[in-house]
Parts: sequence; structure tokens; C-alpha cells
Amino acid sequence: MLSLAPVETGNTEHHGTEHHGFSPPFDLREHTALVTGAGRGIGRATAHLLARCGAAVVVNDVCPDDAEKTAFEVAELGSTSLAAPGDVSTAGDVDRVRETVAAAGLDIDLLVNNAGVSTYRPILDCTEQDWDRHVDVMAKGTFLMIRAFAPGMVARRFGRIVNLGSYVAQRNCTTRNFGPYCAAKFAVVGLTEVAAQELAPHITVNAVGPGDVATEMMEREWQEEGTLRGIDPAAVKQSYRERLLLGDFEHPADVAGAIAFLCSSLASHITGSHFIISGGLPHTLAATQSQLN
Ligand SMILES: NC(=O)c1ccc[n+]([C@@H]2O[C@H](COP(=O)([O-])OP(=O)(O)OC[C@H]3O[C@@H](n4cnc5c(N)ncnc54)[C@H](O)[C@@H]3O)[C@@H](O)[C@H]2O)c1
Repeated sequence: MLSLAPVETGNTEHHGTEHHGFSPPFDLREHTALVTGAGRGIGRATAHLLARCGAAVVVNDVCPDDAEKTAFEVAELGSTSLAAPGDVSTAGDVDRVRETVAAAGLDIDLLVNNAGVSTYRPILDCTEQDWDRHVDVMAKGTFLMIRAFAPGMVARRFGRIVNLGSYVAQRNCTTRNFGPYCAAKFAVVGLTEVAAQELAPHITVNAVGPGDVATEMMEREWQEEGTLRGIDPAAVKQSYRERLLLGDFEHPADVAGAIAFLCSSLASHITGSHFIISGGLPHTLAATQSQLN
């Protein structure tokens, strides 16, 4: 377990650091978080923000080096941190994550199920492996992590679980070419609603639904879409930017902010929700669609 004095991390989050007047929006000093898929992107930004709010943070990722790197950054921010690498889609790895956390003497009371994968591909071209990979990492992974860590929360009569949904996991969404992804995210939202029922009243369970966040995941999707449609990926990216009501992609730290809020005492009466953080999507898509009709 790492626990070092705060130093500058040089990370790119636009909310800044303690050294640039950052004041934590929430007080999470009494808490210990576990963030899955926190080696990069939204998960990494979430690990940083929860640490800045004072939480100890356990960093999971399927890539051990990335988990270690984020755990080191958390320690640099002054929080207790622990890397617990593993594949959330397999029960054996999730057991090992639970054992690593227990061996460090940590009790998880904030669980962020963020690990995810995506492929831009029409349903008719998707393989069985495409389907299994999306559903296993996101839906099954969220289930396995809740099953591993919610019992401790129940025993201690406190817990906050935040799952990564997506703006695509809503009714009337007009997205295409993300069949398995969309199905997996609807499953995550459904699981969120059922878990909120079963784990009440001491544990809240919510989902956050990002729109377009310019992480490695989206950059790869724009490449895939450009290749499939025979157009420049930069033009694809620009077209995604132009459809946003707020004019630009949200930053990983914007999603992290919503997650930290749902972990905070301010959100103690919110459960079973799917909180969309999308810069206005899919309202702009609906508007574009109605102009075309
Ligand atoms: N980027 C977006 O626009 C967007 C939009 C909606 C929802 N989301 C969701 O937000 C979450 C994070 O997305 P991101 O954009 O940061 O993605 P990303 O690809 O940048 O990061 C995902 C992380 O998850 C890890 N991971 C993948 N499979 C794993 C597994 N089996 N076990 C443990 N870790 C695993 C990866 O190694 C990576 O570090 C995902 O659930 C994604 O579906 C993202």
C-alpha cells in the first residue's frame, strides 16, 4: 500500500490541483473507494478526484502497469492508495481483488464500476466474441463487483455504488453501430435499479451516463467509424463535437465530478438514478432527426 506526501502530478484535469487553488468539492476523508478500469480515462480522473476529496482509493485495471501508475498518482495526491489489478469480467480475478483489498485491511464503502470496452460495428457484422466481451466486462463485471463488495457495505450499514451507464442506455436513443455496447449498458442500468431496491436503505446505487468524452475509447471509435464510412476520423470527431448542445466534449473530470457527488453526503437521498452527463445529448440528436423528417 502506498501513502506518500502530496506532490504535483502534472496530470491534465481542468479542475486543477491543490497547488493551483483546488479546493475539494466534497469531504470523503472517512471513505475508501474502489474504482475499476482506473488505469486511464474516466476511471483515472475519478480516482484522482476521490483522492483529492480525501478518500483512500483502490485502483483496479486489467492492465497491471496502468493500475500501478494511477495508484502512484493517488499516493502523490496524499491519499492512501492500493493497486488491485484484475479482469472484472472473471469471478476468479474479482476474488483476487477482494483478497488484495482485505489483506491491506481496507473496507470499501465507495464502489465505482467504470471498466468498459467498446467497438463501433453494425449488429450484422458483430461476432459472438464481440457480444460476450461487451456484456462480460460491463454487465457481468458490474454484477461480480457488487456481489464481492456490497456484503461488507451491508454489514457496515453504509455504501455508495456508482456504475458507468451511458447516454445510449436511455429510451429513444438514436445511436447506431453499438449493439452489444448499448445492450450491455442497458443491462448495467437495469442492474443499478434492482440493486438500489435490494441494497436500500443504507446503500445507494446509481449510474452515471456520459455522452462523448474524448478518451482513448472515443478516439478509437472515431477511427473505427472513419474507416467503416471511408471518411477522415478527424471529420467524424468534429461532427460529434458539433452535435453537442454545450459546444464541446465533456472532460473525464466532468464525469468524475458527478461520481464524487453521488458518493457524497449531498446525494444521500439519491438512489436508482441514471444521471446523464452528456453536454446535451441525445436532445440535439432528436432535434437533428426532426429537422431531417
Ligand atoms: N468515453 C465516453 O465517451 C464514454 C461515454 C459513455 C460511457 N462511457 C463509459 O465510461 C467508462 C470508462 O470509459 P473511458 O472512456 O474512460 O474508457 P477507456 O477505454 O479510456 O478506459 C477504460 C479502462 O477500463 C479498463 N478495462 C477494460 N476492460 C477491463 C476489465 N475487464 N477489467 C478491468 N479493467 C478493464 C481498460 O484497461 C481502461 O483502463 C466505460 O464503462 C465506458 O463505457 C464512456
